[in-house]
Amino acid sequence: MSASGKNGTASRRAFLRGALAAGGAVAGVGAARAAGDPAITQIQPWMQELGDGVDVAPYGQPSEHESHVIRRTVEWLTADPVSSINFTPLHELDGIITPNGLCFERHHGGAAHVDPAEHRLMINGLVDTQLVFTMEDIMRFPRENHVYFLECAANSGMEWRGAQLNGCQFTHGMIHNVMYTGVPLRLLLNEAGVKTEGKWILPEGADASGMTRSIPMEKALDDCLVAFKMNGEALRVEQGYPLRLVVPGWEGNMWIKWLRRIEVGDEPWHHREETSKYTDLFADGRARRFTWEMDAKSVITSPSPQAPITHGPGPLVIKGLAWSGRGTIPRVDVTIDGGKTWQQARMSGPSLDKSMHAFYLDINWDGRPLYLQSRAHDSTGYVQPTKEALREIRGVNSIYHNNGIQTWYVNEQGVAENVEVS
Ligand code: MTE
Ligand code: CO
Repeated sequence: MSASGKNGTASRRAFLRGALAAGGAVAGVGAARAAGDPAITQIQPWMQELGDGVDVAPYGQPSEHESHVIRRTVEWLTADPVSSINFTPLHELDGIITPNGLCFERHHGGAAHVDPAEHRLMINGLVDTQLVFTMEDIMRFPRENHVYFLECAANSGMEWRGAQLNGCQFTHGMIHNVMYTGVPLRLLLNEAGVKTEGKWILPEGADASGMTRSIPMEKALDDCLVAFKMNGEALRVEQGYPLRLVVPGWEGNMWIKWLRRIEVGDEPWHHREETSKYTDLFADGRARRFTWEMDAKSVITSPSPQAPITHGPGPLVIKGLAWSGRGTIPRVDVTIDGGKTWQQARMSGPSLDKSMHAFYLDINWDGRPLYLQSRAHDSTGYVQPTKEALREIRGVNSIYHNNGIQTWYVNEQGVAENVEVS
């Protein structure tokens, strides 16, 4: 919010009146510097020489000043980086789209480098005609564009027993949201002709882990995509180049990367990733299986432990993300006092089905400690639960599907920390 022209100033005042309880403080933002900030009064080095010519970077990269905006891993979480996870830097991002190079990675056997010319997709099992497609064949089917979030079922999995990882990148960063271009799986299955007994599919990856998951035919014929592009360009190697399955709203583990085969069967296969893994152990020792849909969830991405308040009291932008595997997010509530009072956040950006939503709350921070929380409401009427409420039903043996309300404590200095309020 720097000093601006007539219109800018007028609309800024209107914004202040509308959005801030105790206006006035924002008016001071930028005013003091007008007295003679050398960064504006002196000629800077980059004004004294010509810049880079075109094509210095045939594939563009972010500014060198943005080198901190990277995926990060937590080394002690896994024994080896080929069966591991890194996290999207949510605190650094705005809007709903995750840039391709920042999409978190989850591999069970490393990221396979697949030659698209040698890649095939087979459809076999309970079909009239067994088929094998080349990449070129797949490109000849009608394609669609859709923005969807992919959340690993284990996102926030370390937080079941209490606040643990210090940063939304680590507590909530096993998620990304991109626009996919792909062929509806329905079209490929119809081409093969699913037999009447064909009620399930088993997609399989071409990576060393050979990931497989059972998916009911109803979902396969509904909105699944066989995707080859993300955010307009080819899938990244890490995201399953050249082909991945997109299973909107469902847990990330079903979105098979390096997709090479889809078997049609009459019942689920009960493979490793849907029995010993990706099931939810309850307090009484029973395990819940097939928890496919991702429940509504939200998180404040700034301020947060990796994004402290550095500017002191006054106008403060609180930003966050919300999503639901069951639809859209019409509303997010934010509290700055640990849940005593709630305010409705301002949604900004497209509200798309099974996609991330961006929200903001613009406040005038009085410099006192904050207990920040956000609570998502989805289009089915479901409201994101507290961690307490979740534990009452689920116990603390779970890893997956933790969508409890996150709390950040922010002290007088603006330093934020992962805590729980009960
Ligand atoms: N597909 C294959 N073939 N191999 C894998 O290891 N990991 C799964 C899923 N698909 C995986 C896979 C898991 S657990 C998740 S959360 C998502 O891919 C992660 O997708 P991403 O790496 O694009 O973030
Ligand atoms: Co996963």
